[in-house]
Amino acid sequence: MNSASSDADAPVRPRIVLGVGGGIAAYKACEVLRRLTESGHSVRVVPTEGALKFVGAATFEALSGQVVSADPFDDVHEVPHVKLGQNADLVVVAPATANLIAKAAHGLADDLLTNTLLTARCPVLLVPAMHTEMWEHPATQHNVALLRSRGVVVAEPASGRLTGKDTGKGRLPDPAEIVELARLLLVRSDALQRTLEGVHVAISAGGTREPLDPVRFIGNRSSGKQGYALARVAAQRGARVTLVAGNTADLATPAGVDLVRVGSAVELRDAMHKVAADADVVVMAAAVADFRPVSLSGHKIKKTSGDPDPISLTKNPDILAELVSARREGQVIVGFAAETGDETTSVLDYGRAKLQRKGCDLLVVNAVGDGKAFEQEDNAGWLLSKDGAETPIPHGPKTQVASAVWTRLPPACPSLSRLFSDQPAQKECP
Ligand code: CTP
Repeated sequence: MNSASSDADAPVRPRIVLGVGGGIAAYKACEVLRRLTESGHSVRVVPTEGALKFVGAATFEALSGQVVSADPFDDVHEVPHVKLGQNADLVVVAPATANLIAKAAHGLADDLLTNTLLTARCPVLLVPAMHTEMWEHPATQHNVALLRSRGVVVAEPASGRLTGKDTGKGRLPDPAEIVELARLLLVRSDALQRTLEGVHVAISAGGTREPLDPVRFIGNRSSGKQGYALARVAAQRGARVTLVAGNTADLATPAGVDLVRVGSAVELRDAMHKVAADADVVVMAAAVADFRPVSLSGHKIKKTSGDPDPISLTKNPDILAELVSARREGQVIVGFAAETGDETTSVLDYGRAKLQRKGCDLLVVNAVGDGKAFEQEDNAGWLLSKDGAETPIPHGPKTQVASAVWTRLPPACPSLSRLFSDQPAQKECP
């Protein structure tokens, strides 16, 4: 095969423009870039002059394999100030400084990146990073609202350590999270519109650990990735999110999410009842152990103390069923069912029976086993609603499954129509 035909056969790689603003978080753009190129995207980096004071063009060129310039007068014969935006499938700006957000909101175009933002007709994701005071300033908040009202996705910043010793809201979200959001937008351009503003969502994630002694426990293989993806997408859609997490893989707390850590099923139950008391939507994505040891040894069980006794187990509470019985007026409750199916009953039939038994409004049904669902990056399944609707969820990253759940929620739950906005939030901006 000659090189011409192999080029023609190569799959078309999504074209992403990665804008980099002039803030200290510019160094994290290198990690965003590396992850995007490694997952098969063609990335053209467009830094501002300020960004180049933090990271040299050579670093971006080496990592992207493409030329890097901040100046619209470089390579003028190729008309880059128009072509880059026109040809992009997605523009991501990370970090987006307060200055860059202000320029984008008001249509200024004084460098290659701001020109690109004006010519792009693809989805645009701005990922802010700045000090808390700058983020909270009414000028920035008006600019953010104005951009969002035009359909631009302005991500929620994370909270945590900022430049220097101070902490607060305004930190750049984890690079892995930025890449997740970017990949979601490439598949569904409306996946991060602000349809959950004013909604409080409580989500459980991860596996519980039922202790036997101070060092041992009975656990399960849940990584927590699906629950974290639900929390991440809900927060970016504007919800206030409380995430109650058991044991998980090494996952960064999603930006804009309040995290509560728990260990056992009983701890998870207490935490969920507490947050559910104030939540509009409750999602039980955690893998809860159905049983726990009857007794907990106060000291490490030693093998020298003779033959071990069999472990006696007792039933854990069914938290989902309890939450359904205790539900507030109008509250929506979503459950999960990870099923294998067997000779007599399919995965979907087990899911239908579980929806009836648990009494929740929606049930996300996944097939597990054979490398599916647990500890995986991708997921698939069905969304069963108590009104009888059954929506297949196509195979894809867990953020895509999360987006399918949040999209299906308003039509499936008319009791929440007072809260959901069908359209991206339209804010008044003086
Ligand atoms: N769940 C719960 N409390 C439990 C067990 C499960 O709240 N003690 C929740 C899970 O978070 C999930 C749903 O119930 O949302 C279904 O969990 P699953 O383990 O599939 O169902 P079980 O009720 O345990 O039934 P079985 O394992 O027998 O299929």
